[in-house]
Amino acid sequence: MMDSMPTTQQRKDDHIRINLEEPVRFREVTTGLERIRFVHNALPELDLDAVETRTRFLGHRLRVPLLISSMMGGVERGWELTRVLATAAQEVGCAIGVGSQRAAIEDPSRARLYQVRDVAPDVLLFANLGAVQLLNGFGVEECRLAVAMIGADALVLHLNPMQEALQPEGNHDFAGLLGRIADVCAAMETPVLAKEVGFGISGDVARQLADAGVAAIDVGGAGGTSWSAVEHHRAGDERARRVSETFIDWGTPTATSVRMVRQAAPGLPMIASGGLRTGLDAAKAIALGADLAGFAGPMLRAAAQGEMAAIDLLVTIREELRVAMFGTGAATLTDLRQARLLGGDDHGCC
Ligand SMILES: Cc1cc2nc3c(=O)[nH]c(=O)nc-3n(C[C@H](O)[C@H](O)[C@H](O)COP(=O)(O)O)c2cc1C
Repeated sequence: MMDSMPTTQQRKDDHIRINLEEPVRFREVTTGLERIRFVHNALPELDLDAVETRTRFLGHRLRVPLLISSMMGGVERGWELTRVLATAAQEVGCAIGVGSQRAAIEDPSRARLYQVRDVAPDVLLFANLGAVQLLNGFGVEECRLAVAMIGADALVLHLNPMQEALQPEGNHDFAGLLGRIADVCAAMETPVLAKEVGFGISGDVARQLADAGVAAIDVGGAGGTSWSAVEHHRAGDERARRVSETFIDWGTPTATSVRMVRQAAPGLPMIASGGLRTGLDAAKAIALGADLAGFAGPMLRAAAQGEMAAIDLLVTIREELRVAMFGTGAATLTDLRQARLLGGDDHGCC
């Protein structure tokens, strides 16, 4: 019965449905990756079969430098899709994050709707909570619970001020959040990452987060899924519809955000995500300084087609990444980071 459904559950179901059925991309803003080109190497002196995508991230081995970004959980449909994605992650050897676990912290009977370790015993697995919950009663204990609940290797705290601002039921007070993030980073036994959900992280914010002690940043930049667009489809009245529409193109494009974060926090592990659609996008993001490349919307749509489609998309992205490496003469991801790039630095920096 829709009427008796708790608000968070309803919202999660809405988000999955809207992301699968409605246009949710930025309208004019792109990632900026399409304006960046590799200098082609006509003499790679390499065997394509020898191109190696293995890497380490936060001490964990990955066969490919890819992440299925945090999505879903807490509702039956979300759990089914997350299990499909986790199975694919195990098959291909990439990392995966579950969606916000707030619902299961508040109602432990929902913890089962996040479990994936049985199908993905070896993957690098991220727990997930909204950072703003640290100002609304959550603390170190809830963060530890989220990690323990799913046997995660690390905790992702998502920063989503714009999304919250556009939700009538959202948390609109972010004052004092950085200090709470620092408290959690200091107390947690597992690494804590900070991530945006599609509006990007600036150099200044990256520096603040690095000083607060985060182990890595996921830029979650603009150019892919626009949460203003998603909330636009959920808006309950004319004013909410107009305000969310005004911000459909808000945010720092992913390529710019990756550059800003790399410059501001040179040694900090970084994930590029937000609008990445191909393995060539992933290759460009890594050449710009990212360690992993994250995909959300495309993986959700593949998962809705089933396990084979999800595995197929990851294998295709891996193949595109390998061909891009071959075309730049990069045998390893370390080589790829030295690849020469043309263009794209249009937004200035930091
Ligand atoms: C259905 C759906 C649910 C999501 N839920 C979460 C979440 O719970 N926590 C989070 O950090 N990000 C969440 N995201 C945001 C993604 O992780 C990602 O940052 C964003 O969609 C941009 O990436 P994309 O352009 O590849 O889709 C969600 C995305 C989708 C599509």
